[in-house]
Amino acid sequence: MARLLVVDDEKNIRRSLETFFLSCGHTVATAPDAHCALEAMAHGGGFDLVLTDFRMAEMNGLELLKEIKRRSPDAAVVLMTAYATVENAVAAMKAGATDYLSKPFSLQEVQHVVERALELGNLRVENRALRAALEETPILESRSPIMRTLIETAHLAALSEATILLLGESGTGKNVLAREIHRWSPRADRPFVVVSCTTLSEQLLESELFGHVRGAFTGAVKDKPGRLEAADGGTVFLDEIADLPVTLQAKLLRFLQERRFERVGATSTVEVDARIIAATNRNLELEVAQGRFREDLYYRINVIVLSVPALRERSEDIMTLAQRFLATAAARNRRPKLRLAPEAEQALSHYRWPGNVRELRNAIERAVVLSRGDTIRHEDLPDSIFRAQTPPRPAPESSVSLEEVEREHIRRVLADAVTLEEAADTLGISVATLWRKRKRYGIE
Ligand SMILES: Nc1ncnc2c1ncn2[C@@H]1O[C@H](COP(=O)(O)OP(=O)(O)OP(=O)(O)O)[C@@H](O)[C@H]1O
Ligand SMILES: [Mg+2]
Repeated sequence: MARLLVVDDEKNIRRSLETFFLSCGHTVATAPDAHCALEAMAHGGGFDLVLTDFRMAEMNGLELLKEIKRRSPDAAVVLMTAYATVENAVAAMKAGATDYLSKPFSLQEVQHVVERALELGNLRVENRALRAALEETPILESRSPIMRTLIETAHLAALSEATILLLGESGTGKNVLAREIHRWSPRADRPFVVVSCTTLSEQLLESELFGHVRGAFTGAVKDKPGRLEAADGGTVFLDEIADLPVTLQAKLLRFLQERRFERVGATSTVEVDARIIAATNRNLELEVAQGRFREDLYYRINVIVLSVPALRERSEDIMTLAQRFLATAAARNRRPKLRLAPEAEQALSHYRWPGNVRELRNAIERAVVLSRGDTIRHEDLPDSIFRAQTPPRPAPESSVSLEEVEREHIRRVLADAVTLEEAADTLGISVATLWRKRKRYGIE
């Protein structure tokens, strides 16, 4: 069943088409001229198809078609013309008509043309949803003040040439943000190149980043530029920078200072203009303290630091993200009506999300596939989330001081955590602060 609008200045035609379409099970509105048609459309007609006469006083069918297309390029319009000249037909199709009918026509012809036009219209809508799903535009609007400040700062940082360090737990969206920063930067139309510092051996990583010349090592059969050169004029995203081997740290440091380096095995120097964005989910200060990361490099990349908050620190956004992931996953799976049951929503908002946005996205995608009918139920969610209960908060006794509560809370978190960093992270304070508090409260 579809919503149709019939536009014709002849009352008889309006009436017979209306009767016919109603008998086909469609909803029908009629308009005697283009003006009334545009009015009906403007007032939320939500028509799937407009069937319009060609010759009408004031504004003819072709002009109406153009106006409709100007307002909503996806609208499906079929023109009916008593003067089935080739020119008319060509003009109509050029202006975006889905099809045309030449008068006089049989009802069978009308039905055929209308069904086909509706089918095409559906395809178009579906394609748009599919495209949106595949494009995966990141969701950057946020209700969380920390996140909003972060995005604002990232916008400003994007405009500068400064090296940017992205910190944050796994799955918070560091890669996503790095790409956005590049898009917001004056380098947007130049390459954005990602290099993961974890996946390759030291030798491969060096050649990947800086390139090599023929004969530099076994297998180096010809000269090869590295990713830094490939990114000339653009941005290099160094993912998991804490894993960069120490020897390469020195080479990167020199690049950051002088913007030049040598390909592996080369004697000549290459100059490259690439902006560096680095990311890690590790505590770089700790890596420096433990001698795994060069202090001078740390200070070089520690120019603009953006800390992407964990999802539980911006719980305001959980439902927005969930709904958006649901919309795209549902479109991809061709189940546009899928909704979250209230208990499922509740479980999602109460869960702690150790895997952050990535975990939320995966949970929704899985639920979309597992769910039946039009609802995602509580039990369609992964077990860990399904089981997530809001721990009943023990009401602190009014005679207990704030310090007492803090002491008890820190003691409990420390008992549960494996490392100090983890405890500090849970508490949302730095390791140094945790040290001080632990000493002050005499917690072992
Ligand atoms: N703002 C966002 N909008 C849409 N999707 C997002 C957003 N942030 C994160 N995601 C989703 O979460 C996934 C993880 O994001 P990303 O890879 O950027 O995290 P990360 O912080 O780099 O994690 P890791 O430290 O494990 O590399 C992405 O693939 C994406 O699907
Ligand atoms: Mg990442």
